[in-house]
Amino acid sequence: MSTIHWSEITPEHIYRNRRALMRGAGGLGALATGACGGSTAIPGPAATPEAAPVRAGSDTDELGDRLTTYESVTNYNNYYEFSSDKEAPARLAKGFKTEPWTVTVGGLVRNPRTYAIEDLVGKFSPEERIYRLRCVEGWSMAIPWLGFPLHKLLKEVEPTAQAKYLRFESVFRPDEMPGQKGGFFNWPYIEGLRLDEAMHDLAILVTGLYRKILPAQNGAPLRLAVPWKYGFKSTKGIVKIDLVDKQPTTFWMAAAPNEYGFYANVNPEVPHPRWSQATERRIGELRRRKTLPFNGYGQEVAHLYAGMDLRKNF
Ligand code: MTE
Repeated sequence: MSTIHWSEITPEHIYRNRRALMRGAGGLGALATGACGGSTAIPGPAATPEAAPVRAGSDTDELGDRLTTYESVTNYNNYYEFSSDKEAPARLAKGFKTEPWTVTVGGLVRNPRTYAIEDLVGKFSPEERIYRLRCVEGWSMAIPWLGFPLHKLLKEVEPTAQAKYLRFESVFRPDEMPGQKGGFFNWPYIEGLRLDEAMHDLAILVTGLYRKILPAQNGAPLRLAVPWKYGFKSTKGIVKIDLVDKQPTTFWMAAAPNEYGFYANVNPEVPHPRWSQATERRIGELRRRKTLPFNGYGQEVAHLYAGMDLRKNF
């Protein structure tokens, strides 16, 4: 991990003491505004407006809600490669090797590349983004991620005009990941985004949280965060990203096509067959709260779905 400037990453107590300092200095908020000149056929990312739902150096999100504790974020996880029990990944992922690690980006691109994880981090300088994460099971968190916009990576590999979707593939190591030994699921974990969704400045590749290196149970060394979609879109342990021309069949679509769609935008009006999506429980709180359309990011992303029937495209 030679080129990572991990000096930026501080233990949580120091982070908490530093936040006032950072606010005074203009904060990291300035870093959160993405910019990407579009030199290729791919659409440019939506610029992040000033009052964007992106925060840094604070202990609340932009709606004023407190961050979920580090303890909860790292001990209550969905990572089926390890286990379907949410408390097990923290234990089972101890010692899981996340370096060396490479991420191959290819398919319909002009510049296919394989990146060592430390080069990716060195090149794209992760910044802090406080996002809500809403799981389709009806729980949620507010998490200070460290990551960089996916559009920065896409700009470098240059999708061709035929590229319409991204297909993400997670690590497959059944000898180290006990959940992959069972015959029920179709491994590896696959997810996907439409290219314009992936180009949106809110879609990030995550390398850390609470200013620390991403723990294995949260998807180290590289995972997605797409905050307006249900948590299952946020692929962990990414080893491969392909640009493709057809909508990929995702892990959950293959497992239960009547329950999981490709888009998976947070939508309180469209219930899952097993769970209402109208409310959610923020981890650390007792009472349920109302779920917001697009998880509260509608102003930024609703335009991506103009004219689409979001009940059909659930
Ligand atoms: N990625 C992989 N590879 N395997 C998984 O089981 N679970 C998803 C998503 N990414 C999952 C995954 C689900 S259902 C959720 S809610 C989030 O990761 C949970 O992220 P967290 O454990 O960091 O909160």
